[in-house]
Amino acid sequence: MKFSGHTILVTGGSAGIGLAFAAKFLDMGNEVIITGRRQSKLDEAKARYPRLITIESDAADASSIAALAAEVKSRFPTLDVLMNNAGVMALRNLGLPADDLDRLTSEVDTNINGTIRTTSALIDLIRANKGTIINVSSGLAYVPLTSAPIYSATKAAIHSYTTSLRFQLEDQGVRVVELMPPAVKTELTADFPEGAAPMLTTDELVSATIPALEAGVDEIRPGQSNQLHWMSRLVPAFINRTLFKNSRAFIPVAGRPE
Ligand SMILES: NC(=O)c1ccc[n+]([C@@H]2O[C@H](COP(=O)([O-])OP(=O)(O)OC[C@H]3O[C@@H](n4cnc5c(N)ncnc54)[C@H](OP(=O)(O)O)[C@@H]3O)[C@@H](O)[C@H]2O)c1
Repeated sequence: MKFSGHTILVTGGSAGIGLAFAAKFLDMGNEVIITGRRQSKLDEAKARYPRLITIESDAADASSIAALAAEVKSRFPTLDVLMNNAGVMALRNLGLPADDLDRLTSEVDTNINGTIRTTSALIDLIRANKGTIINVSSGLAYVPLTSAPIYSATKAAIHSYTTSLRFQLEDQGVRVVELMPPAVKTELTADFPEGAAPMLTTDELVSATIPALEAGVDEIRPGQSNQLHWMSRLVPAFINRTLFKNSRAFIPVAGRPE
């Protein structure tokens, strides 16, 4: 069914994958609200797509999420699609003591806690409007990229959480979708060495995702994510070690800041 006529909130929608989906959703006839931490990035997105509605909000901060939910409920009571997209990634060496224990788990705060908390803060509205939740995980939910170990763990956690969420809401008229992108060219992957992995553009990811979303697929695994899914089941030891070998060179060494 055509994905139009919705009111959609995209967290982390001021850049990269979130912005590409926000622009496409607008184009398909939806009202779209985006969030992000940097007002400057939200302003840039608004200048490019004037119909976007922007709200500064930090998915790593529970009080910021509560304020976002209160604002959305009063200004946009028709909200029926939540896309939990905000995410951060860091390369980390687990063999060295972290000099900042808060920073060590920053990906947990945004990627997994942000997804769980935003969903909970808006679940009454999404249920009332018989809506859709789209959680953005990654192909790395199946096989960790060893150089980004905590990021990969958050994506595996989102996969598990989303599976439970789908079962719990299936009788309540809420559809729960998981989008598992492969490597995509964005700020998040800007430091990946050229040729380290085949990368989609954000537009290619959107083009591969929308038909699956409209066809009712609930676990969308574009490109290499589908290969990782099958290899993690058929040859898990092989594919785990292959990603380790391919990413070992990017594990930070002592003395180099993470
Ligand atoms: N790029 C890839 O290869 C890839 C592959 C698989 C999955 N993904 C997932 O796709 C999602 C988007 O990634 P991307 O590649 O588009 O990253 P990106 O280009 O770095 O964009 C991230 C967006 O999220 C916002 N953001 C970051 N932390 C936030 C927070 N705490 N609260 C609210 N907004 C926040 C950023 O704006 P501010 O910094 O201003 O907040 C920005 O708008 C992430 O969940 C990522 O894990 C990406």
